[in-house]
Amino acid sequence: MKIAVAKGRIAEKAREFLTGGGIVFPDTLLDERKLVITSKDEDYQLLFVKASDVPTYVEKGAADIGIVGKDTIMEDGRDVYELQDLEFGNCQLVVAGFPNSFPADTKSLTVATKYPSIAKAYFDKAGIRTEISRLSGSIELAPIVGLSEVIVDIVETGSTLRDNGLVILREIAKVSTRVIVNKASYATKTTEVKRCMELLEKGVEGRRANTHNT
Ligand code: PRP
Repeated sequence: MKIAVAKGRIAEKAREFLTGGGIVFPDTLLDERKLVITSKDEDYQLLFVKASDVPTYVEKGAADIGIVGKDTIMEDGRDVYELQDLEFGNCQLVVAGFPNSFPADTKSLTVATKYPSIAKAYFDKAGIRTEISRLSGSIELAPIVGLSEVIVDIVETGSTLRDNGLVILREIAKVSTRVIVNKASYATKTTEVKRCMELLEKGVEGRRANTHNT
């Protein structure tokens, strides 16, 4: 089983969940420069990729399974199965900006975002014309320097917005980390895919129990 995981925090959590289920990876997993890690039983490989590339690896079958944020899945719109919510990495996908920059009668807006497809779909549905600038990071800077009136971005703690004088203007969706599966792998390696899902589900349950106990 090849599992593509977004590098960083998601990769660490995935390892934690799989280890909890008895799939042991060598300690070198912490070395993020190594891009493939094989479990000691050699049944699982973790592939470390950029979050936005996870759906591509899974759709094309280079990975059987992917672990990535719902925001990336929504933006990418790939032909994969989305099977599990791992209940971590909880964020909101929002429209944000300075207070009053999105009045109820708005007809057009300039928007900066890492999520142009999500933004376009959201504003099209609301009947608002948009000019969208695609950025790769530091999105909150855009309204400050007049690149856009609003941004579409994820908010976790809210501190980046706060520190830059911005506020949430609308919520688009709640997002968390999800498991996606290649359609052919699901058909041909059903047992292995289900086993992996069970291990991850145990991780979710373990985490739920810990949350309740603390
Ligand atoms: C993300 C997101 C926000 C920030 C939100 O950026 O784009 O800027 O985190 O988190 P907060 O609500 O906890 O402040 P990221 O850290 O990925 O950096 P980036 O600006 O390079 O995209």
